[in-house]
Amino acid sequence: FEKTTIKVGILTISDSRTSSTSDINSFDSSGHNLIKLINDSNVIKSAKVVQYDCVTDDFDKIQAKMSEWCSERKVDVLLSTGGTGFSSRDVTPEATLGLVQKLTPGISQAIMNESLKLTPMAMLSRAVSGIYEKTLIINLPGSAKASKECLSVVAHTIPHAVSLIK
Ligand code: MTE
Repeated sequence: FEKTTIKVGILTISDSRTSSTSDINSFDSSGHNLIKLINDSNVIKSAKVVQYDCVTDDFDKIQAKMSEWCSERKVDVLLSTGGTGFSSRDVTPEATLGLVQKLTPGISQAIMNESLKLTPMAMLSRAVSGIYEKTLIINLPGSAKASKECLSVVAHTIPHAVSLIK
Protein backbone atom coordinates (compact mmCIF):
# COMPACT_ATOMS: atom_id res chain seq x y z
CA PHE A 1 0.00 0.00 0.00
CA GLU A 2 2.98 2.29 0.53
CA LYS A 3 4.17 3.13 -2.98
CA THR A 4 6.15 6.32 -2.36
CA THR A 5 9.74 5.89 -1.31
CA ILE A 6 10.52 6.54 2.33
CA LYS A 7 13.50 8.90 2.53
CA VAL A 8 15.97 7.94 5.25
CA GLY A 9 18.85 9.99 6.67
CA ILE A 10 21.75 8.35 8.48
CA LEU A 11 23.56 10.62 10.93
CA THR A 12 26.68 9.17 12.52
CA ILE A 13 27.54 10.94 15.76
CA SER A 14 31.09 10.29 16.88
CA ASP A 15 34.22 12.17 17.83
CA SER A 16 36.57 9.46 16.56
CA ARG A 17 34.77 9.01 13.22
CA THR A 18 35.12 12.69 12.47
CA SER A 19 38.74 13.15 13.55
CA SER A 20 40.88 14.60 10.79
CA THR A 21 43.13 11.56 10.64
CA SER A 22 40.36 9.10 9.78
CA ASP A 23 38.73 8.43 6.44
CA ILE A 24 34.99 8.59 7.16
CA ASN A 25 34.05 6.25 4.33
CA SER A 26 36.19 3.38 5.52
CA PHE A 27 35.96 4.15 9.22
CA ASP A 28 32.28 4.71 9.89
CA SER A 29 31.31 1.05 9.85
CA SER A 30 28.03 1.61 11.69
CA GLY A 31 26.78 4.30 9.33
CA HIS A 32 27.83 2.42 6.23
CA ASN A 33 26.39 -0.83 7.53
CA LEU A 34 23.03 0.90 8.08
CA ILE A 35 23.13 2.27 4.53
CA LYS A 36 23.79 -1.23 3.15
CA LEU A 37 21.01 -2.76 5.24
CA ILE A 38 18.50 -0.21 3.95
CA ASN A 39 19.63 0.31 0.34
CA ASP A 40 20.82 -3.22 -0.49
CA SER A 41 19.06 -5.57 1.93
CA ASN A 42 15.77 -3.58 2.00
CA VAL A 43 15.25 -4.08 5.74
CA ILE A 44 12.72 -1.19 5.65
CA LYS A 45 10.10 -1.70 2.92
CA SER A 46 10.22 1.00 0.20
CA ALA A 47 12.96 2.96 1.98
CA LYS A 48 16.16 4.46 0.60
CA VAL A 49 18.98 6.39 2.27
CA VAL A 50 19.05 9.85 0.68
CA GLN A 51 21.15 11.72 3.26
CA TYR A 52 24.28 10.72 5.14
CA ASP A 53 26.58 12.73 7.34
CA CYS A 54 28.91 12.41 10.27
CA VAL A 55 29.20 14.95 13.10
CA THR A 56 31.16 15.12 16.34
CA ASP A 57 29.52 14.57 19.74
CA ASP A 58 28.54 18.24 19.85
CA PHE A 59 25.03 19.29 20.96
CA ASP A 60 24.73 22.21 18.54
CA LYS A 61 26.17 20.36 15.54
CA ILE A 62 23.84 17.40 16.11
CA GLN A 63 20.78 19.65 16.40
CA ALA A 64 21.79 21.75 13.39
CA LYS A 65 22.09 18.71 11.13
CA MET A 66 18.88 17.12 12.44
CA SER A 67 17.05 20.41 12.06
CA GLU A 68 18.29 20.93 8.49
CA TRP A 69 17.22 17.47 7.31
CA CYS A 70 13.82 17.68 9.03
CA SER A 71 12.71 21.26 8.41
CA GLU A 72 13.62 21.09 4.74
CA ARG A 73 11.71 17.77 4.46
CA LYS A 74 14.84 16.05 3.20
CA VAL A 75 14.09 12.88 5.16
CA ASP A 76 11.02 11.06 6.51
CA VAL A 77 13.09 9.05 8.97
CA LEU A 78 16.34 10.15 10.63
CA LEU A 79 18.40 7.37 12.17
CA SER A 80 21.24 8.60 14.34
CA THR A 81 23.97 6.22 15.40
CA GLY A 82 26.20 6.87 18.41
CA GLY A 83 26.47 9.15 21.40
CA THR A 84 23.76 7.47 23.46
CA GLY A 85 26.00 6.16 26.25
CA PHE A 86 27.11 7.40 29.66
CA SER A 87 30.26 9.35 28.86
CA SER A 88 30.30 13.11 29.32
CA ARG A 89 30.60 13.55 25.54
CA ASP A 90 27.45 11.51 24.82
CA VAL A 91 24.71 14.09 24.17
CA THR A 92 22.69 12.58 21.30
CA PRO A 93 19.55 11.96 23.44
CA GLU A 94 19.67 15.50 24.89
CA ALA A 95 20.08 17.08 21.43
CA THR A 96 17.18 14.96 20.13
CA LEU A 97 14.91 15.76 23.08
CA GLY A 98 15.62 19.47 22.62
CA LEU A 99 14.35 19.30 19.04
CA VAL A 100 11.42 16.87 18.86
CA GLN A 101 7.85 18.12 19.29
CA LYS A 102 6.43 14.72 20.19
CA LEU A 103 8.01 11.76 21.94
CA THR A 104 7.57 8.25 20.55
CA PRO A 105 8.45 6.25 23.68
CA GLY A 106 7.05 2.98 22.33
CA ILE A 107 9.77 2.87 19.68
CA SER A 108 12.62 3.39 22.15
CA GLN A 109 10.98 0.99 24.60
CA ALA A 110 10.65 -1.74 21.95
CA ILE A 111 14.33 -1.32 21.07
CA MET A 112 15.31 -1.58 24.74
CA ASN A 113 13.11 -4.62 25.40
CA GLU A 114 14.46 -6.60 22.45
CA SER A 115 18.04 -5.47 23.04
CA LEU A 116 17.98 -6.61 26.66
CA LYS A 117 17.16 -10.12 25.39
CA LEU A 118 20.44 -9.98 23.45
CA THR A 119 22.75 -8.29 25.99
CA PRO A 120 22.46 -6.69 29.45
CA MET A 121 24.76 -3.95 28.06
CA ALA A 122 21.65 -2.60 26.29
CA MET A 123 20.70 -0.84 29.52
CA LEU A 124 23.70 1.43 28.96
CA SER A 125 21.99 3.11 26.01
CA ARG A 126 19.98 6.28 26.76
CA ALA A 127 18.56 6.40 23.22
CA VAL A 128 15.30 8.30 22.62
CA SER A 129 12.97 8.86 19.66
CA GLY A 130 10.39 11.41 18.59
CA ILE A 131 8.80 13.47 15.84
CA TYR A 132 10.11 16.81 14.62
CA GLU A 133 8.04 18.53 11.92
CA LYS A 134 7.16 15.51 9.71
CA THR A 135 10.24 13.43 10.48
CA LEU A 136 10.59 10.47 12.81
CA ILE A 137 13.94 10.63 14.62
CA ILE A 138 15.27 7.43 16.17
CA ASN A 139 18.53 7.21 18.16
CA LEU A 140 20.52 4.00 17.69
CA PRO A 141 23.70 3.06 19.59
CA GLY A 142 27.08 3.54 17.98
CA SER A 143 28.54 0.14 17.23
CA ALA A 144 27.71 -1.56 13.91
CA LYS A 145 26.43 -4.61 15.79
CA ALA A 146 24.22 -2.65 18.17
CA SER A 147 22.79 -0.29 15.53
CA LYS A 148 21.91 -3.24 13.28
CA GLU A 149 20.19 -5.09 16.13
CA CYS A 150 18.20 -2.01 17.13
CA LEU A 151 17.17 -1.13 13.57
CA SER A 152 15.92 -4.71 13.10
CA VAL A 153 13.50 -4.23 16.00
CA VAL A 154 11.71 -1.23 14.44
CA ALA A 155 12.29 -1.74 10.70
CA HIS A 156 8.93 -3.46 10.09
CA THR A 157 6.97 -0.72 11.86
CA ILE A 158 8.63 2.27 10.19
CA PRO A 159 6.53 2.36 6.96
CA HIS A 160 3.26 2.49 8.91
CA ALA A 161 4.71 5.05 11.33
CA VAL A 162 5.74 7.29 8.43
CA SER A 163 2.33 6.98 6.76
CA LEU A 164 0.67 8.11 10.01
CA ILE A 165 2.90 11.20 10.33
CA LYS A 166 2.09 12.34 6.78
N1 MTE B 1 22.01 -2.56 22.11
C1 MTE B 1 22.11 -3.70 21.42
N2 MTE B 1 21.01 -4.19 20.82
N3 MTE B 1 23.28 -4.36 21.25
C2 MTE B 1 24.43 -3.90 21.84
O1 MTE B 1 25.48 -4.54 21.66
N4 MTE B 1 25.48 -2.12 23.20
C3 MTE B 1 25.24 -1.27 24.37
C4 MTE B 1 24.05 -0.33 24.23
N5 MTE B 1 23.01 -0.88 23.41
C5 MTE B 1 24.37 -2.68 22.60
C6 MTE B 1 23.12 -2.04 22.71
C7 MTE B 1 26.42 -0.55 24.84
S1 MTE B 1 27.78 -1.52 25.24
C8 MTE B 1 26.46 0.83 25.03
S2 MTE B 1 27.76 1.58 25.79
C9 MTE B 1 25.27 1.64 24.67
O2 MTE B 1 24.43 0.94 23.74
C10 MTE B 1 25.59 3.04 24.14
O3 MTE B 1 26.28 3.01 22.93
P1 MTE B 1 26.77 4.35 22.22
O4 MTE B 1 27.43 5.21 23.27
O5 MTE B 1 27.72 3.89 21.17
O6 MTE B 1 25.58 5.05 21.62
